[in-house]
Amino acid sequence: MHKIGFYRDGNGDLNIQGIKITSLAEKYGTPLFIYDAGLMKERYNTFFDTIKEVQGNIHYAVKANDALSVISYFAKLGCGADIVSIGEFEKCIAAGMSPQKIIFSGVGKDNHEIEFALKNNILQFNIESEEELNDISTIASRLKLTANVCLRVNPDIAPKTHKKISTGEKETKFGIDFQNVKSIYKKLHQLDFINPVGLGVHIGSQIFDFNFFYRAYLNLKNLADELRLSGYTVPTLDLGGGIGINYDNSSEPDFNNYKKIILNLFKESGYHLSFEPGRSLIAEAGILITKVIRNKKTKEKNFIIVDAAMNNLIRPTLYDAYHKIETVKKISNTEIIADIVGPICETGDFFALDRKISKVNSNDLLAIRTTGAYSSVMRSNYNARKDAIEVMIYNENDFQIRKDEAIKDIISKEEIIVFD
Ligand code: LLP
Repeated sequence: MHKIGFYRDGNGDLNIQGIKITSLAEKYGTPLFIYDAGLMKERYNTFFDTIKEVQGNIHYAVKANDALSVISYFAKLGCGADIVSIGEFEKCIAAGMSPQKIIFSGVGKDNHEIEFALKNNILQFNIESEEELNDISTIASRLKLTANVCLRVNPDIAPKTHKKISTGEKETKFGIDFQNVKSIYKKLHQLDFINPVGLGVHIGSQIFDFNFFYRAYLNLKNLADELRLSGYTVPTLDLGGGIGINYDNSSEPDFNNYKKIILNLFKESGYHLSFEPGRSLIAEAGILITKVIRNKKTKEKNFIIVDAAMNNLIRPTLYDAYHKIETVKKISNTEIIADIVGPICETGDFFALDRKISKVNSNDLLAIRTTGAYSSVMRSNYNARKDAIEVMIYNENDFQIRKDEAIKDIISKEEIIVFD
């Protein structure tokens, strides 16, 4: 049995489940995403233990990584899904997940998406406005199909994370204003073909100060308690996702602390709970392997130019995100300070700026760590660059889960109309 996650062997080379990363790069080429199913399972099991003393279900937030094999693996482990588009819904169904385990979140569900989800027996809609409720009610009545509806509350809490992934403040587009929730929840009970299932909250992603979770959950529970006292049924509370993970790989997600909060608030509270973790289940299980094209030295800087680019991993430039980067082979003692950049023609195409890193040569391999979540899934074909291959490691074997995209595949999506 090999260690879980990426580790260095006796020679100091990076390995996964007894397989050398260099051999995977040789077999599949670069840039290459590698996922460790062992670590995904470990994180899932820990999250499961975290919530097992309360009545809870895990709905993996598919947006973190919607590779079919990843969804299918989490489904096998027991997860349902949290989705935000019919595209994600169809991917979950294709991956073998039951629609009865899928929650449809998101502020902009289009009417055709609502209709499709209803006809295909989706578990629940988490809705974000009264306007959306009216649309769902009209569609459900026309189809004579009952929609299970949960209201996403906006608790007006700013959880100290990057502003682009903070979703719990009044100024954001998310959720229903706290003071309007009760009246809309009451309305749910008056509408035909609408079944009220509860309240939900998701205040953002990459959260480390769990007092913010505590406050948001407490507000939600108080509101639900008040509704119950007034005679309304509130079976479920959806607590969203957002647990922070350490991008320097210094420690595991703080599930222990999270557990304390959950038990403190919800043990024997009589609420059924749903959780929507994304990043904390898969981020650390992924790495992106890239080849050094060449070094470039200017008066001002050292640049290490690699064959991956912002079309493969946009987090550093989009959120100023830190990703640890290390050589795949034994780390040497000679270090330089360099910008690690891709070939795309934008100054924003970087993975790290002024980073201390081992001196490397052309064709050396670098591992960009913690790229299991919000990495390949946010890819694009910018600069007519093809998608990276993805490989999943399961039981000490490698499985290619994303085919090599050929430039002709990119070209074939278009029509050439010759205008004269
Ligand atoms: N539930 C809802 C309604 C969400 O909007 C999200 C994430 C989650 C659950 C999962 O949150 P997690 O456990 O993964 O933090 N692209 C950004 C992250 C965007 C998160 C969007 N919503 C990044 O790369 O940091």
